Amino acid sequence: MKFLIINGPNLNLLGRREPGIYGSQSYEALCALIQDYAAAHRSTADCFQSNHEGAIIDKIHAADGVYDAIIINPAAYTHYSYAILDALKAVDVPAYEVHISRIDRREPFRAVSVTAPACVGQLYGHGFQGYLMAMDHFLEGGT
Ligand code: DQA
Repeated sequence: MKFLIINGPNLNLLGRREPGIYGSQSYEALCALIQDYAAAHRSTADCFQSNHEGAIIDKIHAADGVYDAIIINPAAYTHYSYAILDALKAVDVPAYEVHISRIDRREPFRAVSVTAPACVGQLYGHGFQGYLMAMDHFLEGGT
């Protein structure tokens, strides 16, 4: 399978950013983990990170017809970006939403995802492993 992994704002600072919540491993380590996992499953994963909503939307549009599945952590955009929700709905590529932290046990605004309704599933609280679990959904034939 061909995966597109999208990470939103501030996730480039993984490892340095609130390590008590997001862990001590870097964004580069996350990408290496995902790419190794993809390769072990005869798949590929392109990792994209942006701190800009429009760049994420452009990447989602460009995924149509190119990727089999999107794994997306929209970060803070999760909680208010109707534009990313609409972009995910606009393309014919299934998406799975992932969050590193337990968004249900933090500030109340984090418990709400406006982007999840455009996704086939949502996972949170499994750290980096959550990305691999979301990939498993598709690798095991989920649509
Ligand atoms: C996050 C949770 C969001 O609330 C937060 O804004 C992030 C990361 C997570 O992966 O746990 O930036 O999406």
